[in-house]
Amino acid sequence: MPSKLLIVDDEPSAPATMEAAFAGEGYDLDFADGGALAIKKADASLPDIILLDVMMPGMDGFEVCRRLRSNPKLAEVPIIILTALDDRASRLAGIEAGADDFLAKPVDVQELRLRVRTILKLNRYRTLVTQRESLQEMASRVITAQEEERKHISRELHDDFGQALIAHMLNLRNLQIDLSKKNNEFSQTLETLIADTNKTLEKIRLLAQDLRPTLLDTLGLKKALETYCNEFRARSGTSISIDFDMDFPELPDMHSITLYRFLQEALTNVIKHAKAEQIWVELYTEGNNAILTVQDNGLGFSDSDMEQVKGIGITGMRERMLIAGGEIRINSSPSKGTIISAYLPLENKSLEN
Ligand SMILES: Nc1ncnc2c1ncn2[C@@H]1O[C@H](COP(=O)(O)OP(=O)(O)OP(=O)(O)O)[C@@H](O)[C@H]1O
Ligand SMILES: [Mg+2]
Repeated sequence: MPSKLLIVDDEPSAPATMEAAFAGEGYDLDFADGGALAIKKADASLPDIILLDVMMPGMDGFEVCRRLRSNPKLAEVPIIILTALDDRASRLAGIEAGADDFLAKPVDVQELRLRVRTILKLNRYRTLVTQRESLQEMASRVITAQEEERKHISRELHDDFGQALIAHMLNLRNLQIDLSKKNNEFSQTLETLIADTNKTLEKIRLLAQDLRPTLLDTLGLKKALETYCNEFRARSGTSISIDFDMDFPELPDMHSITLYRFLQEALTNVIKHAKAEQIWVELYTEGNNAILTVQDNGLGFSDSDMEQVKGIGITGMRERMLIAGGEIRINSSPSKGTIISAYLPLENKSLEN
């Protein structure tokens, strides 16, 4: 989309002069021959830059500038004041009114073109930075909402389904005791039913635990990570050795859950891809960083291997970590195993809760 310039000047020759000055620049030029019209047009079209003459009958340029700035929609639009009053006092008046830059009249066309180009470039950069910041903030809110939702589902699973199944199982047990006196075959069928119910219960427990590691809330990060490693070892049959700093500090919830999710994905990746015999998990602090490392002695991978896969695991980890103000570092090469580390700054006030 071409950049929009609004030129405010009461001189009848101004449009032709400006058309000539900006010929070939690809801008969309609009003109106003007085302050009132300028304010109306600016409000309607939100230009990318405003070139504003000072000496105009009725409302002068300074007043126009002040009024533009008082409109929240136009508070950030770059304004260049064009003035024949090339003295200190009028420059100060311009700054006070909210102008960003000045050019002496009659304008040097070359200089005008360069100034406009530079300001537009800077402005676009500022817009990009703002957009990126708001995207990051939104992503952070989405992740928090997702974790809240998981917490909710986990609680429902545990409290509702889990409790209902336990009650169901107790009933089955009682029935089995009653029936076993009369009919052994029935008792066998019930035994199978009870075993199946037990398996379902265990699945629900694991699912609830995966969705929201309640240990994070009750015993803190270190214990939750340790428990996850122990359960993972039991499930996968792969040896995991754990080395956690004794005095590793408690972290804000957002950081704890980020490290927990990192561990889940990193261990799952080892089982899915590495064919490793041994995994090492370390948790420690170094300088201002909390570091969680998962190392394996498996197949490893090269950078080009990584580029070919379309997995969302590592990308998701990176994004989560970025939102928490940290980063992921991967060190891997074919047949030499993989080390994947999460670095999180210990002091990130914006995410503490
Ligand atoms: N510990 C590891 N050992 C060997 N290769 C790995 C290891 N971790 C990751 N990889 C490689 O990196 C790729 C990307 O991992 P990523 O977690 O992003 O995706 P994925 O596991 O393939 O799929 P997803 O996580 O989305 O289910 C994997 O496909 C695998 O080739
Ligand atoms: Mg993965």
